[in-house]
Amino acid sequence: MSTKCDRRRGEFLLSAAASIGAVLSASALASLIAGCESDTTKPSTTGQMVQFDVSTEPALANVGGVVKRTFGSNNGGMPVFIVRMGETSFVVLSSRCSHDECEVGLPAQQNGALVCPCHRAEFDPKTGTQTKPPSGRGPTGPLQRFSATFDPQTNILAITF
Ligand code: FES
Repeated sequence: MSTKCDRRRGEFLLSAAASIGAVLSASALASLIAGCESDTTKPSTTGQMVQFDVSTEPALANVGGVVKRTFGSNNGGMPVFIVRMGETSFVVLSSRCSHDECEVGLPAQQNGALVCPCHRAEFDPKTGTQTKPPSGRGPTGPLQRFSATFDPQTNILAITF
């Protein structure tokens, strides 16, 4: 199965060879391949659970609050959005855009959309559903959602990646 990284690598190689009329050296090819293999933005579904103390984030004290946090290499090292949906319910969404993997930003205002800076796709922070497709393109799908369980006794949100 071809990945976006494979396609980009192939497109780059064809473009480079066509524009300079030259053959890339073996070391240049090895460098390109190694660059993609070390890509830290690959999706992650490791099953690893992390615990997050919601009380440490003032922005999550009220329903509708959203924060963006990174949990090590989970989600390929990219942050996730943690959204407070109710007194005891939260949604956790990847910030990786479903179009071309740019990092989606926090809403500009309360209850606003999550907006991708690359091609302006927009996502519903309550569900991750794409509400506006990338500029000049069709819909590309929702943000990945991770399972999360909240314990109101301890204020701990357990997120499974
Ligand atoms: S990468 Fe997000 S809209 Fe294109």
